[in-house]
Amino acid sequence: DAVERGEYRHYMQKEIFEQPRAVADTLEARIHAHGVLPNIFGVDGEELLAKVKGLHIVACGTSYHAGLVAKYWIEDYARLPVSVEVASEYRYREAVVPADTLFVAISQSGETADTLAAMRESRRRGYLGTLAICNVPESSVVREADLKLMTRAGPEIGVASTKAFTTQLSALALLALHLARQRGLEQARYQDLCAQLLRLPRAIDEALKLEPQIVALAERFVHRHHALFLGRGAHYPVALEGSLKLKEISYIHAEAYPAGELKHGPLALVDEDMPVIAVAPNGPLLDKLKSNLQEVRARGGELVVFADSAAHIDGNAARGVVLRVDAGGEFIAPAVFTVPLQLLAYHVAVLRGTDVDQPRNLAKSVTVE
Ligand code: G6P
Repeated sequence: DAVERGEYRHYMQKEIFEQPRAVADTLEARIHAHGVLPNIFGVDGEELLAKVKGLHIVACGTSYHAGLVAKYWIEDYARLPVSVEVASEYRYREAVVPADTLFVAISQSGETADTLAAMRESRRRGYLGTLAICNVPESSVVREADLKLMTRAGPEIGVASTKAFTTQLSALALLALHLARQRGLEQARYQDLCAQLLRLPRAIDEALKLEPQIVALAERFVHRHHALFLGRGAHYPVALEGSLKLKEISYIHAEAYPAGELKHGPLALVDEDMPVIAVAPNGPLLDKLKSNLQEVRARGGELVVFADSAAHIDGNAARGVVLRVDAGGEFIAPAVFTVPLQLLAYHVAVLRGTDVDQPRNLAKSVTVE
């Protein structure tokens, strides 16, 4: 055990630091500077994907959050409608399936009972086909899917998923680019997105260098009971994932909101006892997010902002802590911003002395309903 963890205190920490490698492995021989290779979904993949008119993504937990990010990407770049649903909901309702819809299951283990049952149920519902995004080649989900795109995270031991998530995002980014190209995304835009994705391992590597600052930041959370995570656009799911990590391993109650919803409820909770963690990448929604942060500040809330280096949010103005993250581009930013949130959850949990790799009441893979 100690040998496998090497220099790291927990598997989770090791797995967080394995992300540049895991993401690079997942992209390896699937994308180069000119684009995504056409055959990455297997022999029938290209033809089947060319017929797709919409996608239904189904997953649980962290894998569900990856699906939510993919919705923003696929709708933005490929202009295809995407719905994302947790498997335990999807399997027990009569979802409407428009013609030529692709069913996509995302699962690290490929054995999650609800996801597997949802996929089996989808067979009855008249989809064009099924695609599995999964980390375990011999798993049930992979065996039963028409198309598969494997993540290459390697074994993930920590119950709280980290490298599985960023490799799922990498695989979903490949899917989004493939669909976008087939549907005529402008060449220059396509090439820029490919270049960003190729930079992702390095951008994650840079984000990992924030660890010493995050260790210091974690001290502020040790005695907290609640935390609120905010993000907008594709960073709303990143906020969800950050809050899930914190609650899973530190047992601090955390919630995530799309920042624009703050005024419709959660603002009532904001006072000096409620730290607010915001993800602020550079992009068209930055000014909107800044005004959301202003609303928090005006109520005495303590702010922690993970801000893009280009975002011009300074510490004084934030009256809190600002940590700079170099996102490396708007497309890959959700994967990059996830990393400091994983580190924050990890170091808060370490300080609180919880069982980081085996949090109470949780299982790595939920194979019964
Ligand atoms: C459990 C794990 C989570 C995981 C979820 C879905 O709840 O603790 O980390 O995200 O199952 O698992 P899957 O293997 O389907 O991705």
